[in-house]
Amino acid sequence: MTVTTERAIPFFPPDLFDTDREALLAALYEVGTDPEQKFILGRRTARFEDALRTSLGADHVVACSSGTSALTLVLAAMDVGPGDEVIVPAFGCAPLASTVLARGATPVFADTDPVTLTMDPDHAERLVTDRTRALMPAHMFSVMADMPRLRDLATRAGVRLVEDSALAQGGTLRGRPAGLWGDAGVYSFVQVKVFGMPGEGGVALSGDAELADRLRMLRNHGQDGRHRFLHHRIGHNSRFDEVMAAFQLHRMAGLEERVARRTAICSHYSSHLADLAGCGVVAPPVGGDGRFPYVYTLLCEDRDGLRDHLAASGVDTHVYYPRVLPEQPAFAPYANRGGEWPRARDAARRNISLPLYPHLTDERVEHVIAAVRAFAHGRNR
Ligand SMILES: Cc1ncc(COP(=O)(O)O)c(C=O)c1O
Repeated sequence: MTVTTERAIPFFPPDLFDTDREALLAALYEVGTDPEQKFILGRRTARFEDALRTSLGADHVVACSSGTSALTLVLAAMDVGPGDEVIVPAFGCAPLASTVLARGATPVFADTDPVTLTMDPDHAERLVTDRTRALMPAHMFSVMADMPRLRDLATRAGVRLVEDSALAQGGTLRGRPAGLWGDAGVYSFVQVKVFGMPGEGGVALSGDAELADRLRMLRNHGQDGRHRFLHHRIGHNSRFDEVMAAFQLHRMAGLEERVARRTAICSHYSSHLADLAGCGVVAPPVGGDGRFPYVYTLLCEDRDGLRDHLAASGVDTHVYYPRVLPEQPAFAPYANRGGEWPRARDAARRNISLPLYPHLTDERVEHVIAAVRAFAHGRNR
């Protein structure tokens, strides 16, 4: 099939914020001309934290400069440090390892569940030692980690549970939103996320008032917000931007609708792709509890063949994390000796994600489905 630029369906669409451009300019003007001249951690950030808190039923929401920073602040607030071990998934994003190492602690990598692509609780349990301070599972692509089992494991092991829910806004499991299962959770608002924005930012969430107080101090150089230049803890600069807070407050009104549209696209993909497992293309587990509509990820033995086929059909795709964390040059020196992560490697080798965003048209969704099906059936002939 010939591909024209007009027809190509991008994976990362360049027009995510086009319909809100006026609101963005208005937010910039409003903050820029506000006599208060407060550009970080002002009243808009406080209102944004409050709005999230109310909509989620969370106890404490602390806005900060990114999802990575939120994880760093959480680990610091829990006093994770040298000599401590944190169990993290072997398949996932760099901050799962780097935030632990930045605290002087050691990431211990657990293998992946082959269906959900999240941390395998059985393997995690085998990795618990008397040095383990925390478990840090991550929700992956469109499926939440097995939080009931991980919660139970953390409680039995007497360790903290850090929920990397950076991607998982909009997901709930047994009625509890992603981010509220751990002793602390996080969201990322980087551009492509479910509640992405045109800038960097994130939040840490917690039901623990003392931990939340520490997080607030740690995001602003260990100060308590009342006494300037009094530093209670070794802190960070991880403050939230007022323009982004104003923009997110504006966008919050449409969040539910955008999540619903993403969910509908995921369901449609699943109802037309779930039967392809026998042809070597495996769709994510079908809908239901513990799902969220961030990225729709297939597993395919001939991943590169599928990728080339879709590209030739005008469908842009994305491959996340093609190398597992313990085999990355930066993290390999710290990886558990003799560790093996066969299913994480398998996920790294086979995953491929399809376009998914609220303004993806029905026609384009059908085109993506037809292209994937043509590949699967062509191979099976
Ligand atoms: C699972 C996960 N955790 C944490 C992060 C870090 O978030 P940020 O990019 O806002 O630092 C990401 C980034 O995409 C992520 O995918």
